[in-house]
Amino acid sequence: MINIKKLTKSFENNLVLKGVDLTIEKGDTMVVMGASGCGKSVLLKLIIRLLDPDSGEIWIDGKEITHLSEKQMDEVRKDIGMVFQSSALFDSLTVGENVGFCLVRRTTMTKSEIAKTVAEKLEMVGLKGIENMMPSDLSGGMRKRVSLARAISMNPQIILYDEPTTGLDPLMAEEINILIKKLHDELGVTSIVVTHDMKSAFSVATKMAMLKNGEIIAVGTPNEMRSNSQPWVFDFINTGIFCDDPNKLTTR
Ligand SMILES: Nc1ncnc2c1ncn2[C@@H]1O[C@H](COP(=O)(O)OP(=O)(O)OP(=O)(O)O)[C@@H](O)[C@H]1O
Ligand SMILES: [Mg+2]
Repeated sequence: MINIKKLTKSFENNLVLKGVDLTIEKGDTMVVMGASGCGKSVLLKLIIRLLDPDSGEIWIDGKEITHLSEKQMDEVRKDIGMVFQSSALFDSLTVGENVGFCLVRRTTMTKSEIAKTVAEKLEMVGLKGIENMMPSDLSGGMRKRVSLARAISMNPQIILYDEPTTGLDPLMAEEINILIKKLHDELGVTSIVVTHDMKSAFSVATKMAMLKNGEIIAVGTPNEMRSNSQPWVFDFINTGIFCDDPNKLTTR
């Protein structure tokens, strides 16, 4: 469904992705882990071409997308929902307008059809009837869920989640995990979930990958990753403490 080959991306002299290779099969929930600042969000933004790569290929459902025009890319994006790390809601729009944003811009649906779809998606994320609230009146967990409702508004085949549970209390995080699994089980979507939250990672993943120093250094099923013999991978997953340089301990 998604095939990434030798993908590189740098910002001025900061080489962030040095050659990422990753395949995500249809119906998989691929969790991408890695230390803060290693390029996880950049990877997701490249997949929806919010950023352009320096080199490499990104195949989505049989189509290589790195050379597509903005207009062609808009077609591809119809099939991809994204939950941004910051939720990225439009603060001047109501919750209903946020969730229906793409439906208004990219479909020919009538106002009442849009209202019905918005209501359904909000109900799906456990926020029935809050269409008229403003994003500023929502808790962090509610914002994430509204962002998720917006991501699924167009019934995408692919959903990209950037840190969907970060900053949420354990109960709210678990609710988000349940939602991710529900979308996977009931709608058969293919997902990439970027997270530091190992509980969430093992709760939702069908496959996992570890990004380090601009490359994928390990990939496998959750069980394979748990028993990965590379010390850095083992420590990241099992202790949350990892380091290359003993003088510079880092925590997840
Ligand atoms: N638009 C940009 N312009 C310049 N540098 C950028 C830009 N976006 C990301 N970077 C740099 O790319 C690197 C990777 O950033 P990214 O946001 O992908 O990290 P991350 O793995 O998602 O980290 P975190 O876990 O903290 O969210 C960082 O050094 C960041 O400063
Ligand atoms: Mg990030």
